[in-house]
Amino acid sequence: MTTTPAIPVERIVMSRISSVDFNNLGFGNYISDHMLVADYDNGKWHEPKILPFGELAMTPAILALHYGQSIFEGMKAFKNKNGEINIFRAQRHHQRLLRSLDRMCMPAISEEMFIQSLSALVATDASWVPDSEGSALYLRPVVFATESRLGVKISDEYKFVVLTSPVGPYFAKPVRVKVEETYVRAAEGGAGFAKCAGNYGGAFYPTQLAKQQGFDQVLWTDAHDHKYIDESGAMNVMFVLNGKLVTPKLTTSILDGVTRNSILTLADDMGMPKEERKISVAEIKEGFENGTLTEAFGVGTAAVVSTIAVINIGGKDYSLPADSNSSFQQRVKKKLHNIRMGTEPDVHNWNYRVPMK
Ligand code: COI
Repeated sequence: MTTTPAIPVERIVMSRISSVDFNNLGFGNYISDHMLVADYDNGKWHEPKILPFGELAMTPAILALHYGQSIFEGMKAFKNKNGEINIFRAQRHHQRLLRSLDRMCMPAISEEMFIQSLSALVATDASWVPDSEGSALYLRPVVFATESRLGVKISDEYKFVVLTSPVGPYFAKPVRVKVEETYVRAAEGGAGFAKCAGNYGGAFYPTQLAKQQGFDQVLWTDAHDHKYIDESGAMNVMFVLNGKLVTPKLTTSILDGVTRNSILTLADDMGMPKEERKISVAEIKEGFENGTLTEAFGVGTAAVVSTIAVINIGGKDYSLPADSNSSFQQRVKKKLHNIRMGTEPDVHNWNYRVPMK
């Protein structure tokens, strides 16, 4: 039998945890005491190490800064009702990480290395996992090109870094979104499906304009003629239309959200009819006008299930009916929460138990 050596840990001298306001976490405001770092060169990944969170020595010539080879994941670890810590859907996040790495010509990371790295880091900073309702330890694995040179090329050197952050809800209240008809997040054949840094940087400008107009997020439409809904940047989108759960079918311009997949799976378990297909903006508008559109919400690791209160189409605000405990989004959100907390059986084997030292 082979055993993988334990990941070495250099512990922080003085924890920063006492500076964290666990009653008012927000999203991404605090970074836990430790980080995991692994280097790639000469065609292979080297053993990861856990270090105190801090600066990394790099030159300003690293290729990630110039040509954008940088991808990341967003995951969560939860403390369940028995005080055990689970990482949610670690394998599915790893599969998506592989697709992002492949799209950006970056080297694969094995499932074993990925899950062991996350799990060792979470175990090291176990005291940072919050346990209040709606909070979690957000895990941010990131891989970026570190070869120091200016020639336009695929890097031969990389870093894999994992950070963690205790977080509360991403959106404090139901969101207002604006159907985007001018700017484009991603076109078919591009890298929209990959979780690469550039997708987020390119979305800032139109999102900033939408925020200045009083919206929280942009509702991206297809790059060709802005007729069909893609996603909402920090989350996938779902609708309840004519009593059915409908969501845009995945394309190369839409992120394959892990929460999206979880909600679709739970919809089956709950007997909710569902459709993954093209959804036109015209159909959403008609759904508002004839009352068949009863719910709209965003789904994502950070966003979880976030109610959409208003959709702006062509400059006009359309309001969704007020959300209630009996809505599909609230019922499915509760079911997801219960699975994570261990109060409902984890029939799909989504929780990965972090072994504690
Ligand atoms: C996530 O849901 O994990 C995301 O990556 C969205 C955003 C926080 C970047």
